[in-house]
Amino acid sequence: MTGRDRLIVALDVGSVDEALRIVDELAAVRTFKVGWRLLMAGLRSGGLDRLWREITAGPRTVFVDLKVPDIGNTVASVVGDLADDPAVRFLTLHESLQGRDIAAAKAARGGRETPYLLTVPFVSSLDAADLAAIAPAEAARGVTLDEWILGRAEAAVASGCDGVIASGDAIALCRGRWPKHAAPRVWIVSPGIRPAGSRTDDHKRSTTPAAAIAAGADHLVVGRPVLNASDRAGAAAAIVQEIDDALGARP
Ligand code: C5P
Repeated sequence: MTGRDRLIVALDVGSVDEALRIVDELAAVRTFKVGWRLLMAGLRSGGLDRLWREITAGPRTVFVDLKVPDIGNTVASVVGDLADDPAVRFLTLHESLQGRDIAAAKAARGGRETPYLLTVPFVSSLDAADLAAIAPAEAARGVTLDEWILGRAEAAVASGCDGVIASGDAIALCRGRWPKHAAPRVWIVSPGIRPAGSRTDDHKRSTTPAAAIAAGADHLVVGRPVLNASDRAGAAAAIVQEIDDALGARP
């Protein structure tokens, strides 16, 4: 996979027209991430057909980031439906799903390879200070953020997830646990990416594209650094170049 295959641009915008303008501008980008905001905008405006046709055209694939939160049967049905469309490369499941629900979701994919199922052990807008509020008992027992993240990631993978969303130090942590070229093959998809010198926004654990690749990320998810750039195509191309340079330097 080259830098171009590894960059995922998050279409975090509030209208289908705007999303499609961005897709047009970013002709070199292969994978776009669609989340709740754009999905709801498309539903309300009736633009979902058009959006789906465009973002799955040609070699493009989609990352459906809904962190699907529902009863096991519903989650499994969603996975089964999306598996009929090979353009859906990744789907996030909600972190709170029980292992048996994740296993049922995986089973609903049948013999099809995708969507790869991911969970988010710990969102990148939180850090160690937030752990006490999320898992007070564990925090009181002295469980560290790394141990917490790895424990959640291991539980998800053991239940059948194909990968995790990991940012900051969690990238190397997860890659250390699941080395490349060893079974199981665990995808590491990393948001919270910020080119050197750019603002971190709400991420408490952000990483440069080069550092994320060096740490073992498979894919980088980038939203605002591309969406808010005056030259979006240029910003995306610079990130792709940085990924390719980092891949070249990786042992
Ligand atoms: O704009 P920015 O590059 O920060 O966008 C990051 C994207 O990745 C957003 O769509 C956000 O929902 C998503 N995300 C994240 N941290 C996670 C999981 C997903 O930032 N842990």
